[in-house]
Amino acid sequence: DWNMPDYIGEAVEKIRAQVGSDEVILGLSGGVDSSVAAALIHRAIGDQLTCVFVDHGLLRKDEGKMVMDMFAKNLGVKVLHIDASEQFMGHLAGVTDPEQKRKIIGREFVEVFQEQAQKLSNARWLAQGTIYPDVIESAGKGKKGQTIKSHHNVGGLPETLNLKLLEPLRELFKDEVRKLGVALGLPHAMVYRHPFPGPGLGVRILGEVKREYADLLREADAIFIEELRNTPFEAPMVPGIDAGKAPVNWYEATSQAFAVFLPVKSVGVMGDGRTYDYVVALRAVQTLDFMTAQWAHLPHDLLGRVSNRIINEVRGLNRVVYDISGKPPATIEWE
Ligand code: XMP
Repeated sequence: DWNMPDYIGEAVEKIRAQVGSDEVILGLSGGVDSSVAAALIHRAIGDQLTCVFVDHGLLRKDEGKMVMDMFAKNLGVKVLHIDASEQFMGHLAGVTDPEQKRKIIGREFVEVFQEQAQKLSNARWLAQGTIYPDVIESAGKGKKGQTIKSHHNVGGLPETLNLKLLEPLRELFKDEVRKLGVALGLPHAMVYRHPFPGPGLGVRILGEVKREYADLLREADAIFIEELRNTPFEAPMVPGIDAGKAPVNWYEATSQAFAVFLPVKSVGVMGDGRTYDYVVALRAVQTLDFMTAQWAHLPHDLLGRVSNRIINEVRGLNRVVYDISGKPPATIEWE
């Protein structure tokens, strides 16, 4: 177990010794690992670091703004915010197979990142938020093979770009990365966020991905997350939830929670009229390791509030269902 101020000091020295006066490039995903890596490397070398934040159009609501506020505005990190949503949507048009969708998103991500990296002709290092479990994981193979982390870790880039790898979190477990993040000044809520898959909403929109679907899903998901955060958690502590402290709200009491877009229409009533609109499913799970998971027994009044808000506030959605499947046999994501 590390003493964080000492650890930061040592890590900063190590990074400085490693890169000298070279320029470093890092793909910022908004996730915990790349964010903590960015904050640490920035602490060490300041403006020698350039982050690239690729918006594939499949991010959560206000994600781009959150990342830019936190890194560019508050920490003064150089961040290139690349809106590549047209390109991603274009390549995803007509594609319905989940693994195919993952491949396309991963491939386009590498392409966009690479294009930006080439512009930074002085960059000699590619920084990644690889943590110790990733090092172990990539020695074996997960259910979805080695593609699981390839998006976040920008697999395949070092060879083509001729960059050396800088991975300052390689020896740390997740809880240590979080403590480091807090010690570096990142907000607690950011550092203890639920995990978000690299392909983003792309695997939470069943079948073909369309911008219209992503827009509806983003709104529904934001309402769900807001209500989870605003609803106090008063039940006994759930064993094994890594919130860094006893959970005080239902967001902290769940390991992952999100909305899923179902491209089917059902009939509803609104005022005097009939609606014929799309359905969203809510998913919330509790788990230690994400290999198995239980569906979260969310309070019925919380579920009711979320459902009412989604249907009233999001034109185009008229029905909300709750997923009560465990893993196994279901997976956490729907695709
Ligand atoms: P499943 O759906 O397999 O998910 O039960 C287990 C955990 O992995 C995340 N997940 C992914 N993360 N790229 C990622 O970066 C992916 O393609 C991917 N698929 C699943 C999922 O969100 C959950 O935390």
